[in-house]
Amino acid sequence: MDLKLLGKIAVVTGASAGIGLACSKALYEEGVSVVMVARDRDRLQEAADAIRSAQPAAAAARLVPVAGDMTRPETVRQAVDAAIEHFGRIDILINNAGNARFGPFFELSDEAFQESWQLKLLGYMRMVKEAVPHMIRQRDGRIVNIVGNSGRTPNPGYLPGSTSNAALLNFTKGISSELAASNIRINAISPGATATERAVRFARQQADEQGTGVEAQQAAMSAAIPLKRLVDPAEIASMALLLVSDRLPSVTGTEIIIDGGQTPGV
Ligand SMILES: NC(=O)c1ccc[n+]([C@@H]2O[C@H](COP(=O)([O-])OP(=O)(O)OC[C@H]3O[C@@H](n4cnc5c(N)ncnc54)[C@H](OP(=O)(O)O)[C@@H]3O)[C@@H](O)[C@H]2O)c1
Repeated sequence: MDLKLLGKIAVVTGASAGIGLACSKALYEEGVSVVMVARDRDRLQEAADAIRSAQPAAAAARLVPVAGDMTRPETVRQAVDAAIEHFGRIDILINNAGNARFGPFFELSDEAFQESWQLKLLGYMRMVKEAVPHMIRQRDGRIVNIVGNSGRTPNPGYLPGSTSNAALLNFTKGISSELAASNIRINAISPGATATERAVRFARQQADEQGTGVEAQQAAMSAAIPLKRLVDPAEIASMALLLVSDRLPSVTGTEIIIDGGQTPGV
């Protein structure tokens, strides 16, 4: 299927690992130029080098790493500025950087919630604010917010993340009709448990709390999913490609759930 993404320009946040890395790689392989954002400069550079190594050397300039913390408004500006300076436009935004703490509500401080809201909720909203004026000028834009099924099905041990995700579903739907007037589409993908470093961190924490091993926790996570497998980050990337392509020009303000059937709400 030709997704007609060749020559497009994208910004991906949280791009050095997990879902953001999978999205960056998938976009790059489709001929998209990608600004990749994450905090750890060395790991980001390694991620970019690994993606480049599988493609002809002439394509190397199509990846631009930007090291920065997405809780900071200046990183938001740097990410969008990098797309404009290097490539002159921004067609695609993949909002993905998130890192909320796990833990029982009564043991979590206000800071645990503020951190999550600052990075994921405000981080995504600020990126939309910064990128959209360019998309309005182009009369074209495609935004994917990586949210999470805890937005609809809150997890009592993950309320900092769940509350951010619920608010982001509201935001994605709430802003979609306004953006549609400028031919900008915005959609959410909600992954269930996905095989990333984050899932390993969660399994480790559960293992520590319950006195079991990480592998036992991961097996229990898979067993709780009707399809009996954690989601592969590449599956999220495939759906993101489709949503930002010209194949689905009528899809906006919606949430696509990729969770192995774990949250079959109506
Ligand atoms: N994995 C799951 O099971 C799952 C399920 C539902 C939803 N999600 C959502 O999917 C998104 C990605 O999750 P993941 O599992 O791929 O995470 P991950 O494996 O932990 O990777 C997170 C990426 O974000 C970057 N990052 C973290 N904090 C950042 C910050 N303050 N500023 C800039 N970049 C930052 C990390 O690099 P640095 O640390 O170097 O900054 C890394 O590149 C998150 O929004 C998460 O809530 C994940």
